[in-house]
Amino acid sequence: MLDAGGQYCHLIARRVREMGVYAEVRPSETPASELEGRRGIIISGGPASVYEVGSPTVDPALFSLGIPVLGICYGMQLMAHRIEGGKVIKGSRGEYGMATLETTAQDRLFEGFQPVSEVWMSHRDRVGETPDGFVATATTASCPVAAMANDWQKLYGIQFHPEVVHTQGGKIILGNFLFSIAGCAQDWEPTRQIEEIEEEIRHTARGRNVFFFASGGVDSTVAFSLCLRALGKDRVHAAYVDTGLMREGETEFVREVFTSMAGDSFEVVDARQQFLAHLKDVVEPETKRKLIGEEFVAVQSRVLETGHFLNGNWILGQGTIYPDTIESGGTAKAEVIKTHHNRVAGIQRLVEKGRLVEPLAQLYKDEVRSVGRAIGLPDALLDRHPFPGPGLAIRCLGSARVEPARRASSGWILPVLSVGVQGDSRTYRQTLALEKYSEDAFQAATELINHLSDVNRVVAFVAGNPALENYASSVCAVDSLRLERLRRADAIVRRLSVESGFEDRIWQFPIVLLPCGLPGQPDSIVLRPIDSVDGMTARAVPMPAGLLEQMSQQLLTIEGIAAVFHDLTNKPPATIEWE
Ligand code: XMP
Repeated sequence: MLDAGGQYCHLIARRVREMGVYAEVRPSETPASELEGRRGIIISGGPASVYEVGSPTVDPALFSLGIPVLGICYGMQLMAHRIEGGKVIKGSRGEYGMATLETTAQDRLFEGFQPVSEVWMSHRDRVGETPDGFVATATTASCPVAAMANDWQKLYGIQFHPEVVHTQGGKIILGNFLFSIAGCAQDWEPTRQIEEIEEEIRHTARGRNVFFFASGGVDSTVAFSLCLRALGKDRVHAAYVDTGLMREGETEFVREVFTSMAGDSFEVVDARQQFLAHLKDVVEPETKRKLIGEEFVAVQSRVLETGHFLNGNWILGQGTIYPDTIESGGTAKAEVIKTHHNRVAGIQRLVEKGRLVEPLAQLYKDEVRSVGRAIGLPDALLDRHPFPGPGLAIRCLGSARVEPARRASSGWILPVLSVGVQGDSRTYRQTLALEKYSEDAFQAATELINHLSDVNRVVAFVAGNPALENYASSVCAVDSLRLERLRRADAIVRRLSVESGFEDRIWQFPIVLLPCGLPGQPDSIVLRPIDSVDGMTARAVPMPAGLLEQMSQQLLTIEGIAAVFHDLTNKPPATIEWE
């Protein structure tokens, strides 16, 4: 996979691996000489135009290596741009979304593919003239050359995206390229790598021991477990930092899983009071994240030093997975929407000295899960939803002012700010609350936000006191009382969501405590079930009516809660978490 800067690059590599063929991602500029010996090369899409200065490019020599090449989207345009005779036309209007594709010539890539099918398009520029030796093989209404082929040299370009689920028959095309054109064998199976990974761990450790910071997440737990298998209990140690910002039962769960694997080689570091003290009176989300990150570094450094894990006999283990390890081709660094604090500076010393072992660095998330399953880790651990590092703190919103809710044409503006993302930029705005919940309201949410400049989220009132005209924000931040309120709410939601099977139909289910309510009931609860593939974009998911009713009734028994709301907003324009 040559990465031309597209968010779809990893998606393609993952699809290829799912089909049983090993794929590695390399920068698009990788010299052709380094690609010799590969079965096939796929060039990914990307956001650039071939005419932009500094846009990702490829070594044209790769087209004469005799290796089959498939260019997808921008990858196809690069082929037209770099091979004699081809021409890319700069587009003024793009083509985004579904399009009807008609194949106009039969080639090996389209074998078994419907001559008329619906495909996913996302491009502005397009190929105007096919390079010498190529023929156009498909069209759409606004893209006359939607595919091209040089069957003789096994070079193919497609403007649409076969890797996204919306493209009908996308798998047929990838399969044709991999198996019939490139002659790949179906021999990639991540669980067969286990022995090799364990050997690699022993090799990297070279007699030294391995220390982990456990989070309870899938990646670090699988990585830890592999090290344990490779080196034995005496040579692997893990510490878990209890920040006090965890969900109900989390510390106990992690303790149980780890002590059953590692016995005495596992310790819990109690840092609850420190974290709470640092967060006192802090409302602004980025400040909160920064403080939590810094406190994490401080605690980790202390553990490393006092536990003597910094001495020459120890190296650090991390659960880093494949998408986190590679530098992509030419993507400019995206604007920071939210600071993630997982990669901390305190452990940098070990990293810089190469005293680091990352057993999962070649695997994707779903592959990590299957490895975890194969080595006998429980499903309860492997199938967990993602949970953010800063924990409940970023779901426990604060407010610096007392301010009443304001009437708007379609509902009430709640005077609480939350983070959103519009056109790749961060927003920090208020929330519109609709008085009535209905499934149709999900459709309307984005539309409403487009018309209200001071709002980036829409929620609907579900249960509680319906007099929204009396609601107001209160002055508060993260404190133990409000954390406990949120923790109870989160536990109720999780229990009902798991019992009803709803949990398996969604990707993540954040619960948010909103400092907006009535005298004596200063807070409200927001339910935020979403579906997503990788957290980059997300769809707000409506809850089954019966479950919503049952959940709300139980949530309203928590003292201090005025109402339950359902978040209706996709990402973008909102983000998954509120902070
Ligand atoms: P947003 O809110 O940015 O979240 O739409 C996208 C995904 O990232 C998770 N998230 C985090 N994960 N450390 C993490 O490990 C963090 O600081 C962090 N912030 C957000 C979020 O839960 C969602 O899955």
